[in-house]
Amino acid sequence: MRSINMLDLKAEYDLFRDDVREAVDRVLESQYFIGGPEIADFEGEMRSRIGVRDAVAVSSGTDALLCALMALGIGHGDEVVLPSFTFFATGGVVARLGATPVFVDVDEKTFNLDPACLASAISDRTRAIIVVHLFGQCADMDAVREVVADREIPLIEDACQAIDATYRGDPAGSLGDVACFSFYPTKNLGGFGEGGLITTNDEKLGAFARQLCRHGQSDRYFHEHVGGNFRLDTMKAAILKVKLAKLSEFTDRRRKNAIRYDRLLAGSPVTTPFVRDDCKHVYHQYTITCNRRDDLVGFLRERGVGAGVYYPLGLHRQPCFTGKGGGGSLPVTDCLCERVVSLPCHPMLADDDLGYVAGVIHEFFGTTIPADVAKESSAQANA
Ligand SMILES: Cc1ncc(COP(=O)(O)O)c(C=O)c1O
Repeated sequence: MRSINMLDLKAEYDLFRDDVREAVDRVLESQYFIGGPEIADFEGEMRSRIGVRDAVAVSSGTDALLCALMALGIGHGDEVVLPSFTFFATGGVVARLGATPVFVDVDEKTFNLDPACLASAISDRTRAIIVVHLFGQCADMDAVREVVADREIPLIEDACQAIDATYRGDPAGSLGDVACFSFYPTKNLGGFGEGGLITTNDEKLGAFARQLCRHGQSDRYFHEHVGGNFRLDTMKAAILKVKLAKLSEFTDRRRKNAIRYDRLLAGSPVTTPFVRDDCKHVYHQYTITCNRRDDLVGFLRERGVGAGVYYPLGLHRQPCFTGKGGGGSLPVTDCLCERVVSLPCHPMLADDDLGYVAGVIHEFFGTTIPADVAKESSAQANA
């Protein structure tokens, strides 16, 4: 039976093997495992790619969020507003600092924070808003800014799934006061282990975040603040630099796959991803919605297709947040949790693979791939 997984990291590694080994050798020969020029180079490349004044390499996307909140002084008694439909870390970091996460609903088409819901969640205790660019498409930042208006509430972008995405021409990571990226191996820029990045145009905030990453020390062994050890390993930065060279090409491949799926799935009852005209979607996930989601996932897996459900439960319903910001119902999030399914969309897929996955979905629903679409290759479809 055919096997089409959510990722094919081994096939990707084949494209990088020699350069990765060379980078690893370089670090081994230098015996520089923390800090050093590899980290500085990587931060510099990210700074210019995202178009920001500072970029701080950190140990994970979770630590990027934690450190960003710490740099903004978030703590006990504060409220942080964020969408419920996201990965756990977005809310977990708020609770870890003793602040209260205030979960709001999302837009049913984009899956991103609904600005109208945000308006009613802001209170006198709101100290930050985390906007998640879910699945690789930016949230409506202008609408969010309009809701915040002249209140001085910092906007944090959770751009962990959105490297290279743009909103009205500007890159994710440059749209708020501070932004956080993840280089977890499954991400669009996936590292060899955990990794993350903080970006900001606020040089003071960037410098403070950098200090917090080194236990808050101002000088060696002199600590002005309590921070943590949130540094990215030098070896990982050297490898990420290698992978960065192919990121644009990989993003293009993901986008082509998505366009192809959109066409292949026409005529089936599933809803394909909605893409805003003013956004460049990078398809960290290609996520459809449908009835009988669990049955479809089972059907796909039986036929060798590794579909994923991101996410099966909103953060407002997670047991750990009971009495700590959780509870209540958020109708759109609750509905999406029952209806979403993400399909393999990674850069190593062949046109044939996309056709197979779409064929299985049509088979499940008793529909067929439109005849004209079945005939064209993805090259023709994207010409
Ligand atoms: C939206 C979102 N936020 C935060 C994170 C946390 O990143 P990491 O796994 O690198 O800690 C992730 C990654 O899984 C994510 O997808």
